[in-house]
Order: sequence, then structure tokens, then C-alpha cells
Amino acid sequence: MNILAIESSCDETAVALVSGDAHQSVRVVSERIASQIDVHARFGGVVPEIASREHLAVLPAMVQDVMRDAQMAWQDLHAIAVTSGPGLMGALLVGTSYARGLSRTTGLPVIPVHHMEGHLLAPGLSSALPAFPFMTLLVSGGHTMLVRVNAIGDYHLIGQTIDDAAGECFDKSARLLGLSYPGGPSIAKAAEEGDATRFALPRPMLHKPGYDFSFSGLKTAVMYTMKKQEHWSEQDKADLAASVQAAIADVLVKKTVKACVDEGVTSLIVAGGVAANQCLRMQLHKAADCAGLQVHVPDAKYCTDNAAMIAYAALYHMTDTTPDAWDVNPRWSLFASRG
Ligand code: KG4
Ligand code: ZN
Repeated sequence: MNILAIESSCDETAVALVSGDAHQSVRVVSERIASQIDVHARFGGVVPEIASREHLAVLPAMVQDVMRDAQMAWQDLHAIAVTSGPGLMGALLVGTSYARGLSRTTGLPVIPVHHMEGHLLAPGLSSALPAFPFMTLLVSGGHTMLVRVNAIGDYHLIGQTIDDAAGECFDKSARLLGLSYPGGPSIAKAAEEGDATRFALPRPMLHKPGYDFSFSGLKTAVMYTMKKQEHWSEQDKADLAASVQAAIADVLVKKTVKACVDEGVTSLIVAGGVAANQCLRMQLHKAADCAGLQVHVPDAKYCTDNAAMIAYAALYHMTDTTPDAWDVNPRWSLFASRG
């Protein structure tokens, strides 16, 4: 199967051509990612209207580039996959409308893909997915969820954040520290020079029963810590960045490992933008080893938003194409039926 995929749910425009079969090996033949980070950085976060316009400006040329690099013609393809939710309404409409236009001219079916299912299955791009059931920790800018995966499409919510997502906590803390957007990579970079034990930040919900998370109090603790002293040297900032990164990782790791043990699953996937965080990856591997769990994490470039993961997820939905019976759904739940 050859699938051309388009991802435009937030602030990255991505196009990829993936070849293969869901249950065998897959290959990313060609891909392009255009980040809008520079455009949104001066606003400290994503501006939806600007995001839509940027997607529209770059998408047609990116599709052409990916097709040219792959040296494939439209008749070599089997489907067009596109993210249809969740995400920003306007941004999703740009990608899905463009996919529908391509479908009209080429006769190829369009497969709508859930953005978080793309993240969830992304480790399959580099090696076989673990046997079912497995646990997934989905950590992105908008989501923090523990999902038990019994089969493709059979997803059970085990826990989730009751307020801010982990990525949001990185982004808001970075803003307080005067670090650039997106906050995750900025905090990780600053933390390299920092002492994670310098500031005693809370570990919200860690000792509460259940598997839900809460990160808004942590961000508030960063704010109060910053108010305690007037002048912040680069070293102070690095220490606070390292402390907040350690607090986020600590809560995610402990709750996730406990959920796996309690649910009796032995494999864990960690996906979404925050899964690119090296401190989190290291701590998870260490704790998982002790608990006898196997951890599967996508290559760093497939943790953050990309189109290869959308093409890969589409491979599992090749038979449920209903060309016009779906629409974008900015609030599409991973636990609702497809569409
Ligand atoms: O999955 P993603 O690319 O987009 C969404 O679907 O939200 O995730 C973006 C989030 C942002 O909050 C960003 O700060 C965070 O992932 N992120 C990171 C790292 N890279 C991206 N957080 C921590 N460490 C990183 N290296
Ligand atoms: Zn994402």
C-alpha cells in the first residue's frame, strides 16, 4: 500500500508518503514538515487564524515535493489519509479540504484519521507494535492520557489530566521563565545545565488513588517560586527548569508504571510531543526495567506532530473508507466510534 498523508491539526504542516502494510514493515518514502513555530513564537502560543493561513500557504507545494521525492505518480497510490480531529477547526479544514480536492481529481479514497491514534501507533513506524493488550501514555500539548489498548480501535481510558496537559505545563512554565515557545524543548535545553534538586516542587496527584494527573498546580508553584526572588540568573532559571522537568517526569513515570502493573500489561508505548523529552524517556526506561515492562517510544521526530504517523494509522483503517460520510471534528474523542 502507498498512502499519502496530510497533517494540519495545529502548528505543523506535514505531508508524508508511506509504503507498507499495517501488520508488516512500513517505510517512510518521503516526507516534509513545515513548522510554524517562528510565526507563533512572538505570541507565546498558537494563533488559530494564523495557523490556518500558514497551512494553506505551504500545503500544495509540500504535496508536490513529497510526490516528486517519492518518484511516484497518483496512480501508484492507494489512498490519501488526513487528520480530521481533534485539533483547531480552521487548521483541520485546510488539510481535509485539500485532501478532498485531491480525491476528486485522482479518484483516490480519503481516510480520516484521529490525530491521537496517529500518535498512539507511531512506534509502529520503526518496529513492530507490541502484542495486545498494551498501555499507552499519550502526552502532548493538549492531552495527557493513559490508554489501555486491547486492539486497534478498542481503547480504554485509564486516567487523564483533570486540568492542564503535561505539554501545556512545559509551555506555561517556560513562558514564566522567559524561555521561548514551544516550552518543552526550551525547558529541556535549559535543564541540561540545571540542578533538579534545587527547588522542591510538588508532585500533584502522585499519592492519590487512581491514575488521573493534574499539572496546573505545578505551573502555579513555578509562578510562586519565581515571585520569591527578584533577580533570576541564568543558573537560577536552569535550576528551576530542571526542577519542573523532573517533577513532570516523576509524576508521569510513577503513575504510568503503577497503571501497567495494576492492569497486568507488560508493554508500554509512550507517545506525543512530550515523549521526545530525554529526561522522561530515561526515567521511564529505568522504572519500567525494574517493573519488568517493555517500553516502546517512537523515534524523536515521530513523537511530535508529523504526517507519517497519520499514514501509518490509516493503514489500519483501509477498509472503513466512507468518502463523504465524515467531517472534521475538533473535539473528536479517541473513545468514540470513528467519524
Ligand atoms: O504532539 P505535539 O507535537 O502536538 C500536539 O498534538 O499537541 O506536542 C506538542 C507539545 C508541546 O507542549 C511541546 O512543548 C511538547 O510537546 N514538547 C516537549 C518536547 N518536545 C515537544 N516537551 C518536553 N520535552 C521535549 N523535548
Ligand atoms: Zn500531536
